[in-house]
Amino acid sequence: MKIAVLPGDGIGTEIVAEAVKVLKVLDLSFEMEHALVGGAAYEAHGHPLPESTLKLAKDADAVLFGAVGDWKFDKLERALRPEQAILGLRKNLQLFANFRPAICYEELTHASSLKPELVAGLDILIIRELTGDIYFGQPRGRRLSPDGAFEGQTEAFDTMRYSRPEIERIAHVAFQAARKRGKRVTSVDKANVLETFQFWKDIVTEIHAQYPDVELDHMYVDNAAMQLVKAPKKFDVLVTGNMFGDILSDEAAMLTGSIGMLPSASLDANNKGLYEPSHGSAPDIAGKGIANPLATILSAAMMLRYSLAQPEAADRIESAVKHVLASGLRTGDIWSEGTTRVGTREMGDAVVAAISKTITKTI
Ligand code: NAI
Ligand code: MG
Repeated sequence: MKIAVLPGDGIGTEIVAEAVKVLKVLDLSFEMEHALVGGAAYEAHGHPLPESTLKLAKDADAVLFGAVGDWKFDKLERALRPEQAILGLRKNLQLFANFRPAICYEELTHASSLKPELVAGLDILIIRELTGDIYFGQPRGRRLSPDGAFEGQTEAFDTMRYSRPEIERIAHVAFQAARKRGKRVTSVDKANVLETFQFWKDIVTEIHAQYPDVELDHMYVDNAAMQLVKAPKKFDVLVTGNMFGDILSDEAAMLTGSIGMLPSASLDANNKGLYEPSHGSAPDIAGKGIANPLATILSAAMMLRYSLAQPEAADRIESAVKHVLASGLRTGDIWSEGTTRVGTREMGDAVVAAISKTITKTI
């Protein structure tokens, strides 16, 4: 097994170093190979996603990605900007299923923007379809004017579109994920207004027949947005299209406290995936050693579970993170009165120490 490690720029290098430390202490048999991506690759090779990096990512069994997008690259033309690297990786590796678990750790219930009792014990999974919908529908969005000139534009349009295979494959992914958790799927649509999403609803219902052990309900996206802040614990797995998923997953992120806690996985049809924290390269704190590495460490746990068939090792990382939070250690983004403020490296070291303890115990 091979993991492609792509730290990126900004805080990417700092947080990925901690995740790599955690993976190493597990002493599993896989190889890790590093490559430059984003701003770091632009500086070295003149391109944010060099051929050699793409090849490594394609050949590997999983990709561990940090973050890209330091401010110093803001003036580059769009095609050379660091963010093009992540878009290029998603497209080239055909990563169509984006998993974003929103888990509220007991110790962080007060960091949420909702009342603690609404989020205590929250553990939901949002699955966003990542390659179809209005973001990619043909014909591509553009502006229209009667004579084709830029001036006097009177309209603009984008095309919302989903094919049967696209909906089928994400539905299977959602039902299979639910099987391993609370056995409930909520499919989010706008079938009352949009034909694309009536089609979505019909196909999800059809695929559900193959998963009689999983409960399915359908919810309109406006109601789902409301329920996520009213009673988020009612959900188990939520599956939806690209645009609704983009919005709802950010909404759900806020329930859990800090973006520095949120891992993510983007998977292809064979469970090969790219794992990254939900946040960006945080240029405002880059190089200071204060970024929270837990989202990246938890992304590495997702990688072990989904792509590398090592669920026990994933559990071990997640328990270690809970243990470290319970011991009162906090990076700045999750710090509160009465807890101990630590930096990126100390947080990584604490997770490594907690894992080492459990390893010694099982021996
Ligand atoms: P951001 O997520 O980088 O930062 C937002 C805020 O959260 C900042 O105040 C930052 O300091 C804080 N923050 C983020 N991660 C943190 C962590 N691990 N620990 C502590 N605090 C943390 O989002 P922003 O500022 O909108 O974007 C910065 C750059 O990152 C942009 O160039 C953007 O395009 C890029 N970006 C890249 C992504 C990726 O690599 N997948 C995803 C999102 C943004
Ligand atoms: Mg978003």
